[in-house]
Amino acid sequence: MKRFLPLVAFFFCLVANAGDKAKVVSVETESSQMVLYVHQNGEVSFYHYGAKFDDPDQILGYKSYRRADYGTEPPAYPARGGRHFNQSALAVRYADGAINTELFYAGHQVTPLSDDITRTVVNLEDPKTGMKVSLYYDAYFDEDVIVSHAEITNGGKKPVQLESYYSSGIVLDSPDYLLTHFYGAWAREMQVERELLTHGTKSVSSLKGVRTTHTENPSFMLSLGTRTFSEESGEVIAGALAWSGNYSIDFQMDETNRLSVISGVNPAGGAYMLDKGKTLHTPDMIYTYSSCGAGQASRNLHSWARNYCLYYSSSVAPSLLNNWEGTYFDFNEDILKKIIDDVASMGLEMFVLDDGWFGGTDYPRNNSDQGLGDWQIDPVKLPDGVSVIADYAHSKNLRFGIWIEPEMVSPRSHLAQDHPDWIVREDGREVTTIRNQWLLDLTNPDVQDFVFGVFDSTMQLADGIDYIKWDCNRHVESAGSSVLGNQGNFWFDYTQGLYSVYRRIREKYPDVIIQSCASGGGRVDYGALRYCNEAWTSDNTEALTRVFIQYGTNLIYPAMVCGSHVSAVPNHQTANITPLKFRFDVACSGRLGMELQPADMNDSEKAFARKAIESYKAYRDLVYYGDLYRLGSPYEDDSYALMYVNEDKTRAVVFAYTLKYMGRTQRPLFRLSGLDAEKNYRVTELNVEKSCFWGSGKTFSGSYLKNHGLNPNMEKLYSSAIFYLEAE
Ligand code: DGJ
Repeated sequence: MKRFLPLVAFFFCLVANAGDKAKVVSVETESSQMVLYVHQNGEVSFYHYGAKFDDPDQILGYKSYRRADYGTEPPAYPARGGRHFNQSALAVRYADGAINTELFYAGHQVTPLSDDITRTVVNLEDPKTGMKVSLYYDAYFDEDVIVSHAEITNGGKKPVQLESYYSSGIVLDSPDYLLTHFYGAWAREMQVERELLTHGTKSVSSLKGVRTTHTENPSFMLSLGTRTFSEESGEVIAGALAWSGNYSIDFQMDETNRLSVISGVNPAGGAYMLDKGKTLHTPDMIYTYSSCGAGQASRNLHSWARNYCLYYSSSVAPSLLNNWEGTYFDFNEDILKKIIDDVASMGLEMFVLDDGWFGGTDYPRNNSDQGLGDWQIDPVKLPDGVSVIADYAHSKNLRFGIWIEPEMVSPRSHLAQDHPDWIVREDGREVTTIRNQWLLDLTNPDVQDFVFGVFDSTMQLADGIDYIKWDCNRHVESAGSSVLGNQGNFWFDYTQGLYSVYRRIREKYPDVIIQSCASGGGRVDYGALRYCNEAWTSDNTEALTRVFIQYGTNLIYPAMVCGSHVSAVPNHQTANITPLKFRFDVACSGRLGMELQPADMNDSEKAFARKAIESYKAYRDLVYYGDLYRLGSPYEDDSYALMYVNEDKTRAVVFAYTLKYMGRTQRPLFRLSGLDAEKNYRVTELNVEKSCFWGSGKTFSGSYLKNHGLNPNMEKLYSSAIFYLEAE
């Protein structure tokens, strides 16, 4: 019965048309259901997203008891016009100046795409103007995820201006809506903020065009019917927009206490001109529903991402050292080779050469003032090229990666002099710099070729380039393109230009690992992650701050994409000093790397690093593919832990940290989650001579670990521990 609907649909691909009686369109996953209601007059309302209520037809004849002439029925895709007055997902300005669009049902289809995925498409049409909207709902049964987007077609006779063109809307009905969203800045990404929504509109948004995820992130969680956030109980809806450009997620609570959430491209950047006969494909909005708290909502998103979204090969990525914080721009062949010796001796698996290797003879990249765009090797730093460094790394059995920032150009570069028309700018206005650089106009096909070419030629610099760090260190100001008629199209077309370059790259280089970096975590979204294997979570490598940044990031994105590096102390961003073990124990809960000058480490630090890296390799499959359970929160608990459990619950790894410590009477107790109560687990603390847990090496039942808990003696600020659990 599990996939009854798709099976039926497989044989009788269900197609319904307008003109029938009222009907229900139900989109279902294993534990969730989204219900649209087609009224007899063809209007389509959104009536349910939450737990399943079996036969969807029970809702036929539903009465909201609201006055029909007050316009308070919630549209599935609110268009500006008619009697709809809430915020609009679609707002069209027609060539004659008219501003109304009224969408009516024009049929729907249900098609199984696989054993797990069923696609429902609901077609809407405005008979007067010819505007058409197809609403896509892809239901991922096992993951409890529904991915939705709109395709907007101008079926009229003239171009139209889309003044808003959101991807998707949902409507919820609950006594309380506790919103969790993310704010931040450079080096402080994904800070968690919570608020109880009140009447009116709250938006989570960006208008920066690129590098859009520092200050907010296109994602959220809504805890329903409660004023407290819970990992393990209560209804939670989480959402994330797969888009690397301007976005807006708008939460509007109306006078009936209903919450409508519309998500998509931020319309405030300017209207999009859609030619007659053309279709705009809006980005995917990913939703999940959990009836048992935020933890399950995260796990649903993570497993959907791993199964269907993230670009990765099925193997775990190499642990690495990146030379940025170790050398910045100041390196040469000898310095790099010595670093590589240490990388190999500590047991890491890849060396990544960061910014500073290019600029040619005229604009060598010795600081951030120049060189972007001139992707020729700096002959002073690397007289024998990049290939000697790559070859040297390979000779030590390491893989090799390199940094580029192909969307950018320094004013001091040959590229800027040769192609002023490739720069994002508006004629007659000053072109502003950020970090001494301009942005190249990816709406221009010539620039797309150039950016692809930068990637392509970098890959030819040496045999065996395994990893590209793709950076992006500014956002858009004074948007303008020399190739666009309607400048309002810039924002959408830029991101599409980026994705089209990514696609070309992936066709030619399916196996290279790409890191999505934008001054740290400025491009952490499910749009970029369709093409990039990992994201650089933050330029802030300080372990205490990282606990918070990684906690926030992992609410939505899985640990396997979060680059997480051990760096030197005092930390370069915060000056904080934490023990090397704490730094490793934080970095090992993500995609492990190091980012320092190993020559500055003493022998015992190197020996510890070697041990920590070796043990990481033995359990990292759990970090990559295991289910994440958060044991509390770093915001609320002085000691915080998280754990990953494999699918059959036979192995797990627990990371525990003391973040605040005020006296010896205080010791943590972690009640573990996600284990099988019936199984017995041997608990072993890793990387220590003497364990901080009295039971290390002993065996405990899953129910003991859950119901009584694990009580390590973590009685110092920044004490930390990693426990490995294996069922016997
Ligand atoms: C910003 C990145 O986030 C850093 O890791 C580093 O690559 C610098 N750019 C290099 O300019």
